[in-house]
Formats: sequence, structure tokens, C-alpha cells
Amino acid sequence: MNSLKFYCILLSLPNIAIIILAQEDANYLYHTCENATTSTMNSTYRVNLNLVLSSLASNATRNNINGFYNTSSGQNSDQVYGLFICRGDLSNTVCQNCVTFATKDIVQRCPIGIASIIFYDACHLRYSNRNFFSQVDQNPSFSLLNTLNTTYEPQRFNNLVATSVNGSATQAASARPGAKKFAVNRTTSIDGFQSIYSLAQCTPDLSSFDCNKCLRAVIAGLPICCSSKIGGRVFAPSCYIQYEIPQIPGFYNETEVVVGSPPPPPLPPPPPPPLPLVTLPVPEGKVSVH
Ligand SMILES: *[C@@H]1O[C@H](CO)[C@@H](O)[C@H](O)[C@H]1NC(C)=O
Ligand SMILES: *[C@@H]1O[C@H](CO)[C@@H](O)[C@H](O)[C@H]1NC(C)=O
Ligand SMILES: *[C@@H]1O[C@H](CO)[C@@H](O)[C@H](O)[C@H]1NC(C)=O
Ligand SMILES: *[C@@H]1O[C@H](CO)[C@@H](O)[C@H](O)[C@H]1NC(C)=O
Ligand SMILES: *[C@@H]1O[C@H](CO)[C@@H](O)[C@H](O)[C@H]1NC(C)=O
Ligand SMILES: *[C@@H]1O[C@H](CO)[C@@H](O)[C@H](O)[C@H]1NC(C)=O
Ligand SMILES: *[C@@H]1O[C@H](CO)[C@@H](O)[C@H](O)[C@H]1NC(C)=O
Ligand SMILES: *[C@@H]1O[C@H](CO)[C@@H](O)[C@H](O)[C@H]1NC(C)=O
Repeated sequence: MNSLKFYCILLSLPNIAIIILAQEDANYLYHTCENATTSTMNSTYRVNLNLVLSSLASNATRNNINGFYNTSSGQNSDQVYGLFICRGDLSNTVCQNCVTFATKDIVQRCPIGIASIIFYDACHLRYSNRNFFSQVDQNPSFSLLNTLNTTYEPQRFNNLVATSVNGSATQAASARPGAKKFAVNRTTSIDGFQSIYSLAQCTPDLSSFDCNKCLRAVIAGLPICCSSKIGGRVFAPSCYIQYEIPQIPGFYNETEVVVGSPPPPPLPPPPPPPLPLVTLPVPEGKVSVH
């Protein structure tokens, strides 16, 4: 868990807001691309990769897959393994759109890849020449943050974030076998603190033990990327976490998720935080489904 490499991608508040509000689209977040060398570049591998990608796209339109599908094609050194996972609270349609877009986008962003993973708001898709099914992969990991600082006392705010994210993680990891390993948590507001919303998800092919291990590792990244920040996310291939304060609507699909008990009535919001002093653009252009 100490070997986690963090690529902090700074987003300004307007960018975060765009991502949140446009969550129906396959908003690109990040990708990695392991290129084939000429010696391993085999056209058979390309053919198998195309079979895997089209199988992922077509299976994404099925209704009973729980937002996850894995498949492989080929033999021996030409075998390609692939999967997608959609965020646990999204509808089938949003999931399908994201996966369909991802299968095309990954080929454009990683044209000679032998292994690649691409992340969007709504889904992520991965393929490799290595059988990674049911294996916990914590690298590469990356984080996104809202650059605004909390207006509350930072240490208490960070503790509240930790409590909420920890609650989501514990619940996601303890999902029964075959179910989505996805959970959300909302902290009760205490002493004028706002509630904090968080979510955690693992690919459902992981064991509870491995899911928990992965989530603890990404949570350990929060103090590095996101201390005092009003929103943050840490992603790894096998799991991810996210938290926000509820000023930003639509963080997750509340109609789809079951939270333990009704929340107390919201307290009046604190004064709006100052605008960020520095705003950095999203490193890659935003993408959307056409
Ligand atoms: C892989 O290839 C792509 C496209 O040719 C290139 O843009 C990218 O930098 C390469 N990645 C690595 C890690 O070499
Ligand atoms: C590609 O892989 C196939 C099946 O493993 C093999 O028969 C063929 O010789 C390989 N081609 C190259 C150029 O390596
Ligand atoms: C799902 O993928 C499998 C291969 O993994 C393929 O045989 C099947 O046709 C796909 N199902 C649908 C409904 O597309
Ligand atoms: C999906 O992954 C599981 C292991 O998690 C494996 O047993 C199964 O064969 C895979 N499915 C396909 C279609 O490759
Ligand atoms: C949220 O969940 C509801 C109920 O399942 C669904 O109708 C709606 O499309 C979902 N919204 C998104 C953005 O997935
Ligand atoms: C996280 O949750 C686990 C299990 O509920 C608990 O043992 C641990 O103390 C919690 N950690 C923090 C930092 O809250
Ligand atoms: C959120 O997580 C905390 C533990 O960190 C737990 O006590 C609480 O019940 C959870 N809340 C919900 C709504 O699941
Ligand atoms: C947030 O706080 C840090 C540390 O105090 C400071 O360096 C940074 O400029 C602040 N960011 C904003 C957007 O105010």
C-alpha cells in the first residue's frame, strides 16, 4: 500500500461541477497505456482485442450483469483479457453508453496497446495480455480533487471524511458474493458540520478480503491528495473511493442507492468558500458521447 503512486490531477471547481452535472456522458478522467513492442506486436492479438472489446460493448446492453462483465479471447500469448465496471448507482443506459464509448476511445487513446485501462466518471474499462481477473490491483492509482478548502476546522473535517469513506468501504467490501461491491455513506452533521457524502466500489470479481485491502490502500491516499479539500476521489484499477460535501448536487444517484436511515434536516450552508486562487485546466480534453 505504500507503493501507491499518485498522479494528482488538479481540477478547478467549475471543472468538477461540469463533470458532476454532465455525468450522463462518458467524461474521460484518466488512462494508462502499455504499448506493445514490435516483437510482441502480433496481429492475432489485435484481432482478439477487437473481439474482447466488442463482447464488452454488446454485453453492456444486457440487463442482469450488475454493471460488470469480464471476458477473454485467444490462446496463450495472444490471449486478451478484458472487463468493464460501471459506477454502482447508475442506470443500465448510462452504463451502456459509457462502455460503448470506452471501447472506441481506448483504441484511439492507446492505439498500439498491449494493456490499457481507461477511467470515466461512469465506468472504467481495462484489457491486458495478463489474466488479472479476481486479482487485486492497486496500481496505477490517481486522484482528483476539488481545489477548494473546507471552511471548517481542517482536522475535524478530515476526520469526518475518513469516517464516511471508511463506512462506505466497510459496507462495499462486505457485500454478499455476486452482488455489486458498492456502497455509499452519509455522515450525520454534528455541531454545524455539513454531512459528507462518500462512495466506495470494488470490481465484484474480488474477494471481500481483497476489496477491503484495495479500499484501505486508496483511502490511505486521501491525506496525500485531498486533505482539507471539499471533494476528492482516489482510483485504482480494482477499486475507488469518492467524497463530496452536498453543496454539489447529483454526486451520486440517491434514487438508486439505499442509505441506512433518513438524514437529519440539513443545516444552513456555510458562507460560500472563496474562489480558488489557482485554477488548472483538466490535462486532457473533456469527451462526451455522440
Ligand atoms: C504508447 O503509444 C502511444 C501512441 O503511439 C503514445 O502516445 C504513448 O506515449 C505511448 N506510451 C508509452 C508509455 O510509451
Ligand atoms: C501470432 O500469434 C499466432 C498464435 O500464437 C502465431 O501462430 C503467429 O505465428 C504469431 N505471429 C507473429 C508475427 O508473431
Ligand atoms: C457476451 O460476450 C460473450 C463472450 O464473452 C459473447 O459470446 C456473447 O455473445 C455476448 N452476449 C451478448 C448479449 O452480447
Ligand atoms: C470472468 O472472471 C472469472 C474470474 O473472476 C472467471 O472465472 C471467468 O471465466 C471469467 N469470465 C469469462 C467469460 O472469461
Ligand atoms: C438514477 O436511478 C434511477 C432509478 O433507477 C434511474 O431512473 C435514473 O436513470 C438514474 N440516473 C442516472 C444518472 O443513472
Ligand atoms: C474503519 O472501519 C473499521 C471497521 O469498521 C474500523 O475497525 C476502523 O477503526 C475504522 N477506521 C477509521 C479511521 O475510522
Ligand atoms: C457511515 O459510516 C459510519 C462508520 O464509519 C457508520 O457508523 C454509519 O452508520 C454509516 N452511515 C450510513 C448511512 O451508512
Ligand atoms: C487551501 O489551503 C492551502 C494550505 O493552507 C493553501 O495553500 C491553498 O492556497 C488553499 N487553496 C485555496 C483554493 O484557497
